Amino acid sequence: MAGGTRDQGGASPVNDPAQFIAEAVERLRTELPGKAIIAASGGIDSTVAAILTERALGERARALFVDTGLLREKEVERVSELFRNAGLRFEVLPAADRFFAALADVSDPEEKRRRIGAAFIRLFESEAERFGTDRLVQGTIAPDWIESGGALRDTIKTHHNVGGIPADSRLRLVEPLRDLYKDEVRAVARALGVPSPDRQPFPGPGLAVRVAGPVTPERVRRVRVANAVVEEEIERAVAEGTMRRPWQYFAVLLPGRTVGVLGDNRVHGEAIGVRVVESSDAMTATAADLPRAVAQRIAERITRSLHGEVVRVLYDITDKPPATIEWE
Ligand code: XMP
Repeated sequence: MAGGTRDQGGASPVNDPAQFIAEAVERLRTELPGKAIIAASGGIDSTVAAILTERALGERARALFVDTGLLREKEVERVSELFRNAGLRFEVLPAADRFFAALADVSDPEEKRRRIGAAFIRLFESEAERFGTDRLVQGTIAPDWIESGGALRDTIKTHHNVGGIPADSRLRLVEPLRDLYKDEVRAVARALGVPSPDRQPFPGPGLAVRVAGPVTPERVRRVRVANAVVEEEIERAVAEGTMRRPWQYFAVLLPGRTVGVLGDNRVHGEAIGVRVVESSDAMTATAADLPRAVAQRIAERITRSLHGEVVRVLYDITDKPPATIEWE
């Protein structure tokens, strides 16, 4: 197994996206004679999986978007609009209380992923029963299961959407994209007419893995505000032609406290890390340069919006490897 890009000479299943789509729809029709629910996060992978399933099954398919309370600002609205435009039948499931309860007192990143994975599965089990099926379609792609540890690999990271189905679950997984890499999914998305198919990736466990340490509604709110500033300022700079749109750009809330000044007083606040990377397949990445003025505006806006709560902003200059893209 050779990392995140297809082996040299290995044939891509999407040399012809239209042909891949036709074959995937046909396979889904055969594999799914009854109904199915689709775990739809609004990300590129699960959106493509949802559209293929909808094409194959029509009203026998139902996309489910879970509001975990760990989403970015305005994400529920944005995803709902994306799904409406794609013609998907979908439901938004409000579940923030359930996810924060599952994460109470958890700081270990892998434990966070396990708890979130389990909370998703329990929710999907009851939704599947409500819809009258045992089939769950997911947008798992090749790097997800490769990085989750194949037979001969150590686990790098337990991606929440892989291996999270307990042996005693009635749910049966269907993964129409499991042989594809990210750039291949994007080619399929473009062919399906998914708007902004080059949108940046967002991890399934959401902002829980972007707050280092305990996950509380308060800390998630802080990273959500900071992340919106990072996205807005970078997108503004891109629109103004100051920089190229990076592959992925976001904020993380760092562990521990740091000193700042608030008026005449010293306060103990938190620190935000800003991560901006270039990559093509997420298996390797380089830390991107941020124009000084953009970085400064980001720091100024974050500390102003989170007055006294966040008092310091750091810029991550590490490549992957040795770091990963996310902090957890
Ligand atoms: P890392 O941090 O492993 O991230 O370099 C590689 C890419 O995967 C995304 N990522 C995740 N996606 N569940 C996901 O669905 C996860 O648990 C997860 N962790 C990381 C990350 O944003 C990057 O694009």
